[in-house]
Amino acid sequence: MKMIFSCWINIIAIVAAARNGFLTIPAVAAAAAPIPADFDDRIIIDISRTMRNGMATFGSVTGARNLTTEIFGGPYIDGILNIGTHYGTHVDSPSHIFPEQLLHQVTVDSLNLSTLVGPVLVVQTPNGVNITGQVIDSLKIPRGVKRVIFKTQNTYRKLMDQQKFEGNFTGFTVGGARRLVQKTDVTFVGIDYMSVAVEGQIVGVHKIFLGASRGIIPVENLKLDEVEPGCYTVYCLPLRVLAEAGPARCILVK
Ligand SMILES: *[C@@H]1O[C@H](CO)[C@@H](O)[C@H](O)[C@H]1NC(C)=O
Ligand SMILES: *[C@@H]1O[C@H](CO)[C@@H](O)[C@H](O)[C@H]1NC(C)=O
Ligand SMILES: *[C@@H]1O[C@H](CO)[C@@H](O)[C@H](O)[C@H]1NC(C)=O
Ligand SMILES: *[C@@H]1O[C@H](CO)[C@@H](O)[C@H](O)[C@H]1NC(C)=O
Repeated sequence: MKMIFSCWINIIAIVAAARNGFLTIPAVAAAAAPIPADFDDRIIIDISRTMRNGMATFGSVTGARNLTTEIFGGPYIDGILNIGTHYGTHVDSPSHIFPEQLLHQVTVDSLNLSTLVGPVLVVQTPNGVNITGQVIDSLKIPRGVKRVIFKTQNTYRKLMDQQKFEGNFTGFTVGGARRLVQKTDVTFVGIDYMSVAVEGQIVGVHKIFLGASRGIIPVENLKLDEVEPGCYTVYCLPLRVLAEAGPARCILVK
C-alpha cells in the first residue's frame, strides 16, 4: 500500500514538474522506456475460448454445467467459478502425464513463461489426415522456430460450436509427435481442439511432448477461426494455480 502511494506521489510530482516546465524527470523516464511509435496500431487477436455454461468439455455430452454461478448478495453479485483444469483454452504441465511430478511441483504455475510468450508460426494442416510424421515433414517447419500453432480441420468443422464432445477430432499421432521432437526445435505446440493428441494416443503423445528433454508444452483448444497462417507474437498465460494444467488467456499480436 505504501509503495503504491509513493508511486502516485512521484507521478503527481512528475506531472506537476512538466506543467511548470521542469521536464528533466519525464524526459529521462521517456528515454529509459520508449513506447514504440506503432504501439497502438498493433492488431490483437484473442485466440481463447469463452468459458461459459454449456461449453463443450472432454468426453461430455452436455458440456460444462454450473461453470459460473451467480450468488446474489443484495446489491451486488459474487460469482463462483467451477472450472476443470482442462476446460476451454488451457496449458498442460509435465505433471499432467507424469503424476509423480506433482510431488515435485512441476505444475502449471511453475512453467517457464519464456516458452509461452514470443514469436509463433501458425500453420494449416491438410484436411483428411491427422498430424502424422508425414504431415510434419510436409509442413517444413524451419529449425529455430520454437512455437507453432496447428490450425486443423477442427476449426473448419466448428467442433467447439457443438455442446457434445466429438471423439474423431484431428490431432497428433505418436509418429507425428516423435517427428516434431526429432526434426524441429519447437517447445510450444498449440492446437484448435481439446487435445493435441488423437483419441487412443493421448497418453503416448503427451508423454513424448512433456517428457522430451527440451520439454514441449501443449496449449490446447485455441480459437483459430479468424487466424490466417503466418507469423505472430503469442502471449499465453495460464492461471497461476498449483495444478497439473490451467485455463489460459491466449492472444496473438500482429
Ligand atoms: C447447479 O446449480 C444448481 C443451482 O445452484 C443446483 O441446483 C444444481 O444441483 C447444480 N448442478 C450441479 C451438477 O452441480
Ligand atoms: C526460461 O527459458 C528461457 C528461454 O529458453 C531461458 O533463457 C531461461 O533460462 C529459462 N528460465 C528458467 C528459470 O529455466
Ligand atoms: C466423426 O463422427 C461423426 C459421428 O460422431 C460423423 O458424423 C463424422 O462424419 C465423423 N467425421 C470424421 C471426419 O471422421
Ligand atoms: C484422426 O484420428 C482419430 C482417432 O484415431 C480418428 O477418429 C479420426 O478420424 C482421424 N482423423 C482423420 C482426419 O483422419
